[in-house]
Amino acid sequence: MLRVLCLLVVTLILSAPLHAQEATPVDRSATGGAQTLEDILKRQEGLKIDDSFRSGLTGNPEAAAATTEQLGTLGGASDPDLWRAYRYNTAAITTQARGPAADVLIQDGGMRWLLFREGPLLTYGSWLLGGMIGLLVLFYLIRGRIRIDGEKTGRTIQRFKAAERFAHWLLAGSFILLGITGLITLAGRKLLIPAFGHEAFATIAVASKWVHNNVSWAFMLALVLVFVFWVVHNLPDRTDINWILKGGGIFGGGHPPAKKFNAGQKLIFWSVIVLGASISASGLSLLFPFELPMFAPTFEKLNALGLPQAVGLGELNTALAPHEEMQYAQLWHAIVSFLLMAIIIAHIYIGSVGMEGAYAAMGDGEVELQWAREHHSIWTAEVEEQQSKAGTS
Ligand code: HEM
Repeated sequence: MLRVLCLLVVTLILSAPLHAQEATPVDRSATGGAQTLEDILKRQEGLKIDDSFRSGLTGNPEAAAATTEQLGTLGGASDPDLWRAYRYNTAAITTQARGPAADVLIQDGGMRWLLFREGPLLTYGSWLLGGMIGLLVLFYLIRGRIRIDGEKTGRTIQRFKAAERFAHWLLAGSFILLGITGLITLAGRKLLIPAFGHEAFATIAVASKWVHNNVSWAFMLALVLVFVFWVVHNLPDRTDINWILKGGGIFGGGHPPAKKFNAGQKLIFWSVIVLGASISASGLSLLFPFELPMFAPTFEKLNALGLPQAVGLGELNTALAPHEEMQYAQLWHAIVSFLLMAIIIAHIYIGSVGMEGAYAAMGDGEVELQWAREHHSIWTAEVEEQQSKAGTS
């Protein structure tokens, strides 16, 4: 019993200074009773502070610091209507800063965008690219390299002119650079900072951004060139139906006849054109912040068509804050880019290791005649006919 009493006395003695310390009133005269710089710094460090000196005074403007003093509190009375107006972008704000987004003080939804960008976008995007690579490995293991079936002739015919190859490699080179630098921008904070540290990542991020912004012009130019060169060869026709029904002859079904491009290639071409144009449009919107809002007008058109309503989304919000426009542009840009990257990974596979004789078409522009006869029989017959006519004349 005596021992317990002694322990109690010692505990009380030891804890006395602690209580005395906590109870010491903080001198807030310099801020007129409002919080001090120490309070702010402690809060920023995540330390707990006793804020009863504030919370106990709400609704009492008399107790608030004067607005003229440092750390003043605008009279102390909270104005929920004003904050709501700030938050929902309805307050009439006058600023010295000019620009479409200067009078937005609080943008509701920024956090939702950030969490989606760091979470599902990155996760599903990685799964999509990883899944495509996995599928191609599986395809290679099952089907192996698609070989030239017949005897090689030792003769070649021209498949693509220098200008076409230039356009293709400009498109390919710029797309690969944009893909890598885009992924660095999207995933860098999560993957590269832990691996290389903040300093190194800062340099990588600045370089990536510079490359991404500038190389985008080469991509857009190449997209236009490729479209102009190849659009006539990519218009759908009856041969495509047969080609698709026979699965392109991929699993031993022979070689369905095809013109310059088969249905599979037409699908690649139109994916590149449509998705590439969409990536370019959203990219331009990001390149010139707040100058090219695209989502509000698109949502308006979709609402008028009744499409979002038909799939249960209700009317889409068309009163978008400028920042919200940018957030949608960023998400769209990244989602469509992931889609096109997945498609292009498959294209790169089939244009290189996946098919014997294919790479030469874009390498030096000349393909083995037997390859051409097998994969593009109608086109090859036309070229051979032209050549023989030219020969006889
Ligand atoms: C290292 C990467 C790449 C390789 C090895 C490659 C290879 C090829 C080859 C060999 C062809 C001609 C196929 C034929 O003779 O019919 C071709 C066509 C084409 N490539 Fe690429 N390519 C690459 C990257 C890209 C990229 C990044 C894009 C677009 C972003 C692209 C878009 C196209 C298009 C639209 C065609 C015409 C349609 C088709 O053949 O599928 N290529 N490529």
